[in-house]
Amino acid sequence: MAVLTLSGLTRRAREAPVQEALPEHYVDASEDETAHKIATAKEILGRKLVILGHHYQRDEVIRWADYTGDSYKLARYGADRRDADFIVFCGVHFMAESADILAADHQRVILPNMTAGCSMADMADIHQVEECWAHLTRIVPERIIPITYMNSAANLKAFVGEHGGAVCTSSNARTVLDWAFQQGDKVLFFPDQHLGRNTGLRMGIPGEQMVVWDPWALCGGAPAHEYRDARILLWKGHCSVHGRFTVDQIRQARADFPGIRVVVHPECVQEVVDAADDFGSTERIVKLVQASEPGAQFAIGTEINLVNRLAHEHPGKRIICLDPVVCPCSTMYRIHPAYVRWVLDNLLDGRVKNEIVVADDIKRWARVALDRMLSLA
Ligand code: 13P
Ligand code: SF4
Repeated sequence: MAVLTLSGLTRRAREAPVQEALPEHYVDASEDETAHKIATAKEILGRKLVILGHHYQRDEVIRWADYTGDSYKLARYGADRRDADFIVFCGVHFMAESADILAADHQRVILPNMTAGCSMADMADIHQVEECWAHLTRIVPERIIPITYMNSAANLKAFVGEHGGAVCTSSNARTVLDWAFQQGDKVLFFPDQHLGRNTGLRMGIPGEQMVVWDPWALCGGAPAHEYRDARILLWKGHCSVHGRFTVDQIRQARADFPGIRVVVHPECVQEVVDAADDFGSTERIVKLVQASEPGAQFAIGTEINLVNRLAHEHPGKRIICLDPVVCPCSTMYRIHPAYVRWVLDNLLDGRVKNEIVVADDIKRWARVALDRMLSLA
């Protein structure tokens, strides 16, 4: 493990996650057998176990979740279920890390497949952020508040906690940015440039007052005066799933189904969010569909497992994915029921497999950053 010490805090670069191969009988088991084993294990473990399922999980996994939600809601659920010794997080790595940061000492957080990461979260690492910060604080005289999207590694959350910033999710980015501008003059927002830009625009900050920091370019890629003049400094990161949605798809959906309501996730590019009728976190998308009248029509710009589930749950409404070519999140999809069964079976045998443990020095500051967010709700 690479270790380097900066500003008194030990930083670790995350090693490539390794997932133990499942024994053959887990792989070969029928769907019914796997389901039966999971149901039995859940029953035996009772309240000691809580299973959290992000909205992008496949149906065969989501059916086992005690709670479903967006990343904000799941972070809260994990923190609220103090009676559970084991939190099995059916989602991706950064979500399980956040659950561990917020968990009580006796709680152990488990990610059924260790390779379930997030390509956007991987677009900013601590060394790049430290380098960016050192450069920006040298050339910009005003106070910069660092804000990290929930989709980031724990050590980035620790970084913002230590430097007076906070975490945000897609459901509270506006609230957190409003708070940040009360603390300082500028915001450094990572890793998703689109969530940062879409939020800033809705706060009335013009596009010209936002500049991108490219971690792969010399000194961020823009001239120093642009960083000095901007109000929001956006990290050059994005989600490839949401990057697939286009304004042409919105035009097509409206032409095919007049009156259809277009709702997208704020990780989509600005033009798509501007052209849509509404936008929001996965939980907000779910709520909008649930609250709509029978016969309502929605073209949704987010991950396909959620869109398909909504279509299935609302047969009296027309619910389609904006992208006619299926766009799954391949890392969310790595949580297969066989892995859920495997971690539960191991719990029954007294073994905790795939535990997500955030080191104490990182946890301390990451918790500060998460608590700041939670206190703003
Ligand atoms: P939500 O917090 O809206 O669920 O978003 C998480 C995510 O990863 C979207 O791509
Ligand atoms: Fe990450 Fe995009 Fe998958 Fe969300 S949909 S977990 S941002 S890769």
